[in-house]
Amino acid sequence: MSTLVIKDLHVSIEDKEILKGVNLTLNTNEIHAIMGPNGTGKSTLASAIMGHPKYIVTSGSITLDGEDVLEMEVDERAKAGLFLAMQYPSEISGVTNADFLRSAINARREEGDEISIMKFIRELDKKMDFLEMPEEMGQRYLNEGFSGGEKKRNEILQLTMIKPKFAVLDEIDSGLDIDALKVVSKGINEMRGEGFGCLMITHYQRLLNYITPDYVHVMMQGKVVKSGGSELAQRLEAEGYDWIKQELGIEDAEEITEA
Ligand SMILES: Nc1ncnc2c1ncn2[C@@H]1O[C@H](COP(=O)(O)OP(=O)(O)OP(=O)(O)O)[C@@H](O)[C@H]1O
Ligand SMILES: [Mg+2]
Repeated sequence: MSTLVIKDLHVSIEDKEILKGVNLTLNTNEIHAIMGPNGTGKSTLASAIMGHPKYIVTSGSITLDGEDVLEMEVDERAKAGLFLAMQYPSEISGVTNADFLRSAINARREEGDEISIMKFIRELDKKMDFLEMPEEMGQRYLNEGFSGGEKKRNEILQLTMIKPKFAVLDEIDSGLDIDALKVVSKGINEMRGEGFGCLMITHYQRLLNYITPDYVHVMMQGKVVKSGGSELAQRLEAEGYDWIKQELGIEDAEEITEA
């Protein structure tokens, strides 16, 4: 089992504090969902975990099986088994989807133990078939000209090929049609198990109908303010966030921008 521990994490962007003490522990074999109003720091948390240079950790810690993640460069974090599917995946011209995937897989393997081309192609064919992706997408440049939904599906292809220990999926459900949502969920559910833990950022219960989370967390004003089981997401869908604000005596969420 692996464990990712986030302790009292404070993160600033351009001198503005966005995360104000996030605590979260993820184990493999667990699926966590984070929900919360817009602008409360969910994507910031994802970027801080992956080491985006713009996001400055001012205090707190992130450890993966006791190792200090904050000390690691971005590529070292990926090598250690962390994976991020971004809210807005970027397009990279000149690098094909297949080449990118093979490099990413090999980056996690020891030198001299690279995946053979044959094995890679077999695996890629299998996974693309499973995710109902047309074969030509492997040879297209990474995300270039991909539709919103195709990009999201492609993130899941990366996930199932790279097989990280922990994945942070930022709004993987946004912009997906119903069929694509089912396919993406199928991909995530296939990963579910002993060697895999996941943090899904989402606004909607809809995704959680397909992937039942073990834990649901609510983020507000840069903190995880409430945690529960999947029933918490159902209540949020039905009632919104006001009851939590009242329960915790939180003023309007806009406050974060004035801090
Ligand atoms: N590069 C940046 N420069 C300035 N402010 C930023 C930057 N990145 C994020 N912020 C601010 O940090 C706050 C949190 O943003 P973040 O993207 O983490 O929110 P979120 O919870 O993911 O929201 P959403 O649900 O809308 O995706 C916002 O007020 C945002 O404007
Ligand atoms: Mg976001």
